[in-house]
Amino acid sequence: MSTAVVYCSQTGFTERYARWLAESLGTRAVPFDERASSSVDSAGTLVFLSWFHAGGLKGARWLRDLMDGRPERRYVVVGVGAYPMPSDEWPKSETDAAFDQAFPQDRYPDLARFYCQGGFDFDRLCALDRLAMRAFFRMQAKAARTDPRVAFALDAMREGFDGTRREYLQPVLEHLRG
Ligand SMILES: Cc1cc2nc3c(=O)[nH]c(=O)nc-3n(C[C@H](O)[C@H](O)[C@H](O)COP(=O)(O)O)c2cc1C
Repeated sequence: MSTAVVYCSQTGFTERYARWLAESLGTRAVPFDERASSSVDSAGTLVFLSWFHAGGLKGARWLRDLMDGRPERRYVVVGVGAYPMPSDEWPKSETDAAFDQAFPQDRYPDLARFYCQGGFDFDRLCALDRLAMRAFFRMQAKAARTDPRVAFALDAMREGFDGTRREYLQPVLEHLRG
């Protein structure tokens, strides 16, 4: 059974993960705009990579509708965000909560979920997201004075960063091959 790799990306970090994954699997990374293509429709396994946006995952509704309509297929979701890879300081529970929000576990117990850190590139954001991020930066400035985690995140986003690492996809590949 073939595997389709579909991605949704605004500033390119998720797209990079999708291309890496597709290359490792010997397939093509399909942009979200082309999600209705026949190669996606006929695939036995569907991997959807997308980015976190204000606690939600872009395109999550599309994946939920697919899973509801065709539950016999195997589905994998890879969420990409600015949040660092899990560690003691940056617990996995926070990215899990974002996945739970998009895909409640009682409704989608078989969905395999993986997190990969993306990056932040203010200049490539759409106008609406620039406005939202400016407001977010202002809101967080006060908290950053007393919370080192907030200060770290705020500095990283203001300067822009690229946290993508191909090795973060290893668990996804192991899951798909396992
Ligand atoms: C308006 C906005 C909201 C965001 N919300 C979150 C979030 O809730 N959690 C997170 O980890 N990252 C968040 N991010 C960061 C993006 O997920 C991150 O920059 C990601 O790498 C973007 O992927 P892309 O380059 O494929 O578009 C947000 C970014 C923007 C612009």
